Amino acid sequence: MSRLVVVSNRVALPDSSQNGGLATALDAALKEAGGLWFGWSGKVARGHSGELHRTSAEGIDYLTIDLSREDYEGYYNGFSNRTLWPLLHFRLDLVDYNATTQAAYRGVNALFAEHLAREVRDDDVVWIHDYHLLPLAQELRRRGVRARLGFFLHVPFPSADIIAGLPHHEKTFGALAAYDLVGFQTERDLERFQDYIRLFRGGQVVDRGQLREQDGRCFRANAFPIGIDARGLSALAGNAMRIASVRRLQSSLGSRALAIGVDRLDYSKGLPERFRAFERFLDRHPDQHGRLTYLQIAPVSRGGVASYRALRQELEQFAGHINGGHADPDWTPVRYVNRTYPHATLTGFYRLARIGLVTPLRDGMNLVAKEFVAAQDPEDPGALVLSIFAGAARELDGALLINPFDSDGVADAISTALKMPVEARRERWQSMMTRICDYDIHAWRKDFLRSLEHARD
Ligand code: G6P
Repeated sequence: MSRLVVVSNRVALPDSSQNGGLATALDAALKEAGGLWFGWSGKVARGHSGELHRTSAEGIDYLTIDLSREDYEGYYNGFSNRTLWPLLHFRLDLVDYNATTQAAYRGVNALFAEHLAREVRDDDVVWIHDYHLLPLAQELRRRGVRARLGFFLHVPFPSADIIAGLPHHEKTFGALAAYDLVGFQTERDLERFQDYIRLFRGGQVVDRGQLREQDGRCFRANAFPIGIDARGLSALAGNAMRIASVRRLQSSLGSRALAIGVDRLDYSKGLPERFRAFERFLDRHPDQHGRLTYLQIAPVSRGGVASYRALRQELEQFAGHINGGHADPDWTPVRYVNRTYPHATLTGFYRLARIGLVTPLRDGMNLVAKEFVAAQDPEDPGALVLSIFAGAARELDGALLINPFDSDGVADAISTALKMPVEARRERWQSMMTRICDYDIHAWRKDFLRSLEHARD
């Protein structure tokens, strides 16, 4: 069995209660054959980028690197989060292109490659994650790395016309052809990538899963919809009533039902649109006034980027506006919280909820949708209201699918979910639970790694 090297911008160091399902899955893979996880330390150094930190735990080596203030601004806040993130989420209007941050992005990828080239052996399998590291394979190949290199994009891949809005897009996206295997969340993302290769790279789709570049070089691309540890999460949720904050939430609700949303505070998550829809629900369904409390947990994210700061302000105002107009002295319709919670606590919150609200404007997959399902009580499960623009909508056929831009439609779906009889909720839940258990996070990573092992056959 080959050694596995995982590379991602953020490294899930051992013993963090915040580590999610991806960390669990990759840890399991790294433990199987011993391995290395490489990425940014999360620290901003005073001087130059590059100080290395090495630790190991349970057979896994963790190697992380500090970034200078300049690189942090250019690579992370700049090109990754002000340029690529909005582009990949279909938001050309928010794309901020700047040649300096593009150079910093390339520079940090080159720096990662410098360090990795010393660590990686020819028979290793290297699995690189997400939009921060699109050109890493190209940088590794330039340094003579011959190991198999795979890439998984956790976010959507938009249409070729949107990508073309990025100046010099081929430098960043053409570089994907240097991988042996490129993975996407859904078939639609894969199709749009194939289109891009055809239209802007003069490439061809040879057969299912294989692409040929203009110069004749072939590489593989496929869809691998990421899953969660559904059984593990269900067990966590089953025990979560032991957690004091879960019990406190339950008693604070009294006889009212709970609708829950849990999202990073990000414009792709459609939070103002969700607030608007909740307000429409209150306006359109006066008979249900006072019967539902909406808890939105939205940990602050990427505060170094102006559009995120503006969104935070907007939501603070909006929550106040809804409560001002609809609350009673003993009922606050919207509870809006910017804190983060340990994973186990969140599973307890999900289990208490009658309705899960997952309404992004665009999302690669959205694991909250799957976690909400896994956390439900099989006897009395909650209903999921899910955006058609989340990758998860392709799998979760038991959800109430909505268009997040249609606030009346979302308002009506909330009302339908609230009134749905338990038999209907059970039936919908069962079909979603079966899917997320069948293709869980372990099946996902095995599927990807098997494809990568054979990518050159
Ligand atoms: C998304 C991205 C991840 C990223 C995460 C948190 O899920 O796909 O790559 O790590 O957001 O964002 P942050 O900027 O805090 O790493």
